[in-house]
Amino acid sequence: MKILITGANGQLGSEINELSASFSNLEFVFSDLPELDICNREMLAQFASDHQIKGIINCAAYTAVDKAEEDSKTAELVNATAVGNLVAVAEAQNLKLIHISTDYVFDGTAHLPYSEEFEVSPLGVYGATKRKGEEFVLNSYSESIVIRTSWLYSSFGNNFVKTMLRLGKEREELGVIFDQVGTPTYARDLAQTCLEILSKSDKLDTSGKLYHFSNEGVASWFDFAKAIMEMGNVDCIVNPIETKDYPTPAKRPHYSVLNKAKIKADYGIEIPYWRDSLKECIQRLKELKEQV
Ligand SMILES: NC(=O)c1ccc[n+]([C@@H]2O[C@H](COP(=O)([O-])OP(=O)(O)OC[C@H]3O[C@@H](n4cnc5c(N)ncnc54)[C@H](OP(=O)(O)O)[C@@H]3O)[C@@H](O)[C@H]2O)c1
Repeated sequence: MKILITGANGQLGSEINELSASFSNLEFVFSDLPELDICNREMLAQFASDHQIKGIINCAAYTAVDKAEEDSKTAELVNATAVGNLVAVAEAQNLKLIHISTDYVFDGTAHLPYSEEFEVSPLGVYGATKRKGEEFVLNSYSESIVIRTSWLYSSFGNNFVKTMLRLGKEREELGVIFDQVGTPTYARDLAQTCLEILSKSDKLDTSGKLYHFSNEGVASWFDFAKAIMEMGNVDCIVNPIETKDYPTPAKRPHYSVLNKAKIKADYGIEIPYWRDSLKECIQRLKELKEQV
C-alpha cells in the first residue's frame, strides 16, 4: 500500500520517515510545503492520483497554539478546511486516512483521563480549529480515523524537550508550570502506532473513528522539565510555578490526560511509559549531538 505523509518535515512526519524502512509492506511518499499544500484541494487530488496513493497520514497542521489566537484565519484553513480537502480526496479516490488531533479539544475540567466519548470544549483557537478538522473525518464515509494525542516531542523540530535542554544550560534556575497536567508523548511512539495500524489492520475504523493515544503515565510540565534535566545531565534548578505566573495568549487545559484503552484494545498496541520514551529521545539527541 502506498502512503502519503503530509506535513512530513514536522516532528511526527520526520519520525515516520525514520521508521518507514521497517514497514516493508508499505510504500511512502513524503510531502510538505511548498511541494504539497493541503489547503489546495485540486493540487492534493492530482498529487494523490498521480502517485497512486492508497492511504494518507495527515501530519500537517498549524501547531503554534499562541500564534493561532491572532492568526485564526490561517489556523482555520490548515486545521479545519484542509482536513475537509483530505476527506474529500479520500472519499473520491477511496483512500484510507489517519488524521491527528489534540488533547486541546478539551477544557481540562475533568479529573479522570479523557475517553473518546467525553464532550469537547476547546479553550482556544488552536483547539477549536482542530475540533472542526476532526468533525470532517468523523462525518466522512471514507475509511478514516482521528487519533488525538498530547504534548508531542521528538528529536526533530522545536519542542519542550529541546527548549528545556537549551534553557537549562543557559540559566541556573527555571520556573515551570506545575498546575497543568497531561502526558508527554514521544512522536516516534505515535509514528510507530500509525504505521502498525496501517500495515496490520484490514479495516481502519474497527469500533468508531475516534482514538486517543499518548505515552503511559501522568506528569505536569514541571515534572516533565525535571525529568529532562535529570536525563540530559543538565545542572539547572527547576522551580514549580502556577499558570497565573506564566501568562500566555492561549488558555490551556489544566488537565488533559487521555484514556488509551480503546486504541490498545482495538489494535493490540503496547504503549511505553513516558519516562522510558523520554530517555530514548534524549539518547537519540545525544547520538545526533544535538543540545545534550
Ligand atoms: N506538537 C504538539 O505538542 C502536539 C500535541 C497534540 C497534538 N498535536 C498534533 O499532532 C500532529 C503533528 O504535530 P507535529 O508536532 O508533528 O507538527 P509540526 O512539527 O508543527 O509539523 C507540522 C508540519 O505541517 C506543515 N504544514 C503546515 N501547513 C501546511 C499545509 N498547508 N500543507 C502541508 N503542510 C503544512 C508544517 O510546515 P511549516 O513548518 O512550514 O509550517 C510542518 O512541517 C498535528 O496534527 C498536531 O496538531 C501536536
